[in-house]
Amino acid sequence: MNYGNFSQDGKEYIINRPDTPKPWINYLSNDIYHALVSQTGGGFSYYRDCKYHRIHRWAHIDLDQPGRYLYIRESADGETWTPNWQPIQRNLDKWETRHGLGYTTVSAEKKGLEIKITYLVPVEDPVELWVVKLKNNTSKKREFKSFAFAEWVVGDQFNENDYQNIMCLYNRGYFDKKDNAICVHKEPTSTRPITGYAFFTSDILLDGFDCRKLSFLGQYRSWDNPVVVEKGDCTNSSVNGEDMVGVLQHNWSLKPGEEKEIVFALGYTEHKEEIEGLIRKYRSYETATKSLNEVKSFWLERVDGLKIETPDKAFDRIVNIWGKYQLLNITRWRSASYYYHGDGGQGYRDTAQDVEGLLSVDLQAAESRLRKLLSYQYNSGHAVSGFSDIEGPWEGSLKGGIVGKSDVAVWIVYAVIAYLKETGNYKFLEEVIPFVDGDSATVYEHIKRVISYLETKIGKRGFPLIGRADWNDALDKCGINGRGESVWTAMALCRAMKQLGELAEYIHDIKTAQMMNQKYLDLAKKINQEGWDGKWYRALYTDEDRPIGTEKDKEGKIFLNPQTWALLSGVSNEERTKMVISQVDKYLASEVGYALLYPAYTSYDPTIGRISAFSPGTKENAAVFSHAVAFLIVALCQKGLGDKAFDTFSKVMPTHSFKQSDKYRAEPYVYAEYCVGPGHPYQYPEGQFAWNTGTAPWMWQAATEWILGARREFDGLFIDPCLPPHFKKCKITRPFRGDVYEITIENPDGVEKGVLKIELDGVEIKNQLIKPFQDGKRHQVNVLMGLPKIKKKKISIKKRQLAFA
Ligand code: GLC
Repeated sequence: MNYGNFSQDGKEYIINRPDTPKPWINYLSNDIYHALVSQTGGGFSYYRDCKYHRIHRWAHIDLDQPGRYLYIRESADGETWTPNWQPIQRNLDKWETRHGLGYTTVSAEKKGLEIKITYLVPVEDPVELWVVKLKNNTSKKREFKSFAFAEWVVGDQFNENDYQNIMCLYNRGYFDKKDNAICVHKEPTSTRPITGYAFFTSDILLDGFDCRKLSFLGQYRSWDNPVVVEKGDCTNSSVNGEDMVGVLQHNWSLKPGEEKEIVFALGYTEHKEEIEGLIRKYRSYETATKSLNEVKSFWLERVDGLKIETPDKAFDRIVNIWGKYQLLNITRWRSASYYYHGDGGQGYRDTAQDVEGLLSVDLQAAESRLRKLLSYQYNSGHAVSGFSDIEGPWEGSLKGGIVGKSDVAVWIVYAVIAYLKETGNYKFLEEVIPFVDGDSATVYEHIKRVISYLETKIGKRGFPLIGRADWNDALDKCGINGRGESVWTAMALCRAMKQLGELAEYIHDIKTAQMMNQKYLDLAKKINQEGWDGKWYRALYTDEDRPIGTEKDKEGKIFLNPQTWALLSGVSNEERTKMVISQVDKYLASEVGYALLYPAYTSYDPTIGRISAFSPGTKENAAVFSHAVAFLIVALCQKGLGDKAFDTFSKVMPTHSFKQSDKYRAEPYVYAEYCVGPGHPYQYPEGQFAWNTGTAPWMWQAATEWILGARREFDGLFIDPCLPPHFKKCKITRPFRGDVYEITIENPDGVEKGVLKIELDGVEIKNQLIKPFQDGKRHQVNVLMGLPKIKKKKISIKKRQLAFA
């Protein structure tokens, strides 16, 4: 079934029927307000924190109700309908939704009455606007009433889930005539001091309103047949101590061909006295149109900058527009999703990976997150596993120094080094940043401490203790008794040692460079001895010293991550690299990418953890986890396997042909966290947990840094494309350290890797490294790929003194 297509310029996804297999949503946001909006206007908004400042009530992804609806009641015959399609779901003559960058427009027509609602969140202020156009396309006068509807939580979503009967007692809602607005809040108490005030208003005076849910819906009714809409008039109810809604009634009369507009502004603030100012500012059609234009330019500017042009338009679109848009949105709002209300928590590791992606998209945002992460590191070198903007650091009962997830701290090393490579700002290493538990140190010291911390948490085989998990959250019981060890975390540590060693060498700290080199070689050796299973790398050893990821087991024989990270960390030699790639292909490949492990676990094993209890093929239990497949893509590029890397990339793309069926179900314009794996009895390859996923930053880097190969390095931009052979010509525009490099890559012989010649502004350069001019100008780079005819002529990166294996 076809549910939609991209617009010609790729900047909108046009959905042509409302009953998509799952809600297909958009993120509308600024720095303090986030609205999740589905194709029917479903979803919820919150201010600053999705737990404490939840604005709308919203039930569940299956129902996708309630939402931001406009009910219509025809005066002639009393017929009721909603242009959103939800919740009445009555047949409409025309229906379409366009998800654009920063806005969503739902349009519908019934019996010649056309209604278009554009939802947007202005670039600043805690407000969402619904800009509505109503048009009578018939030759007769049309009279009808509209009821704009939202249902409120206005407060702590978790309290609401658990104690709705009590939480509603704090509710207050009334109509403020002076402001033509409904105002609602929960009365604060000393144990619940965090509260906020919401409002809902329109630029046209109301003909009626309701604040009390029961008055609007009626007993035993639902959102699809509110008694008020059926009868035709609001009851002008206020609400005290019961569930609240915001309903604004308007009575319309449209002449033949006549068109009218109305703007609804819904917002939230912690300070009651700000409501009036917000209402005055946004209650106007002119302001709403201006806001929409500002939002559009904001996003167009954001997605401009680094872009690519290849023979594959779907690849270009996800890289240049939608993947970037996803990345920017999720780094702003990492907690709430359509699959989980959200507790306000943001993962330390997830944020660090977002930073690596964000660096070449929005440096300022990346920098501020990087500083935040450094300040959430403990003195010991360990880091908190997550944080909430309201509650601060999160560690639960585990305080710094105790192993939670074994790899938490390691990601900050990569993020800081990626920042240095992107910016060339080595002074950052000297910046002093406090630790979360007191004391402070330079950024350089912060990242060195990660290594020393992890070295204090080593098990008897020489690998980091796995504690409560590694990257794979669901391996949560392997190491709870303090003995289990993670081979994967050892690889991650190796990669950090290697990168830190290279940095130390670059800044002439030879002592650290030599030390890291030695540590790297020692650990790599152990991995190759104790971590090797015979045909592939093992994943871990449990508290009982039982290897996981071994051919001897019936389930969980082979895990993907230890194979890809053996390549990413450089610990596997050529022979083992070939072997693991072929085993990954043999056991883990599917039409939509590579499964996390094989075979899936079928029943709970308390010595491994919840991974074994998840249904086979779901989440960490052998799903095709896009984030992990992105690791593979980068690893393949490191080995020069351009064809395979691109093929794998295409499979992760939500537009992959195999996903264009009702079985995939998720949005076709953003990455999903995973596809249910082939090990599941019937759900393969359903897309799950779209939007909030580390896939976005990794796929972005895989495409730009590795496939197109304009890669940040300590001393400049290294040009090293790794292409599928059918990419004979492509381009990448790479803003870098204040300049813009317009790179054209010619690949006449269809090689996967290999650079014969590079011209920078018409002059041939000796190696593959562009040393940035830092003159703020645009520079032309012409790259010729091919197999070197005379071996000696092959140009290579400057040899480093220390050879990391
Ligand atoms: C989720 C988490 C991420 C974790 C992954 C695998 O994506 O956000 O931190 O590494 O699952 O468990």
